[in-house]
Amino acid sequence: MSMTLTEYLPKDLFAGKTVFVTGGGSGINLGVAKCFAAVGANVAICGRTVEKLENAARALEMLGAQTTHAVADVRDYEALERAFEKTKEELGPIHTLVCGAAGNFLSPAENLSANGFKSVVDIDLLGSFNASRAAFEHLEQTKGNIIFISAGQAFTPYFAQAHAGAAKAGVDNLMRNLALEWGRYGIRSNSIAPGPIEGTEGMRRLAPGNVGDRLKQAIPLGRFGTVEDVGQAAVFLASPLASFVTGTLLVVDGGQNLPGSGLYTRLIMAAMGGEG
Ligand code: HXC
Repeated sequence: MSMTLTEYLPKDLFAGKTVFVTGGGSGINLGVAKCFAAVGANVAICGRTVEKLENAARALEMLGAQTTHAVADVRDYEALERAFEKTKEELGPIHTLVCGAAGNFLSPAENLSANGFKSVVDIDLLGSFNASRAAFEHLEQTKGNIIFISAGQAFTPYFAQAHAGAAKAGVDNLMRNLALEWGRYGIRSNSIAPGPIEGTEGMRRLAPGNVGDRLKQAIPLGRFGTVEDVGQAAVFLASPLASFVTGTLLVVDGGQNLPGSGLYTRLIMAAMGGEG
């Protein structure tokens, strides 16, 4: 990554601060973790696959970060508690929690099983609450903040995304509720809604075939996002630059959601074998 960030912000902006990223072993979340590492943070990550976590931790250490990692599924509250305790022992209490772990796939609602819907809600929404709740004592101590990784599906219905849209809308409401309730502890709570981010698992799953290329032409800024675009927004929200910002959703999508999801619907229906 090019690290535009460090051309504009001091490399020690987060020195002595610990950032925990759920799902930080890959994709957007690893990109976010790298941006925090580039500005001096200690970085802790959790996920389900130990190899991914080990490789990610090495990449973060190459950027100068002290790291720790733990295998923890965000659906497992006790596993998160253990991961946060390990983080506290090794890197100190969490200053910024990034709730990034998510699950998604394309499925028209009429084909989606009850368990398929539940799985996505469990990972995205319950997982975000689990992490926030388990990190509360850390955040209270550090007067820290939470960043939820949301999606355009939270505020615009997308074809074959009923499960993800419901889950992410819940995440954003949780974000605002925690901003309201935990402001008195000095804890801020915000969301980022990334648009299509190149090279990610989300793009592979949600934009099969030529859907991505066709979609790109309709993005007002004319390109896909990068993981660094999301990481820069996260660093801003977590930093003193945003010290009076809480309860907000920052859309980082190059304007992709402005025209609505009609084009995506046509493209994805065609890609899934229906009428385009
Ligand atoms: C329909 C599906 C499905 C598919 C799984 N299911 N894949 N249904 N279409 N493609 C159903 C299964 O049949 C099962 O229901 C239920 O979902 C649970 O599946 P499991 O494989 O047992 O669950 P699990 O191992 O917990 O995996 C969770 C997962 C999986 C979400 C289903 O895809 C996953 O682990 N994803 C993590 C990585 C990921 O998705 N990254 C992309 C994030 S992109 P039954 O009824 O058969 O038991 C992203 C972008 C966000 O988040 C933008 C939009 C919000």
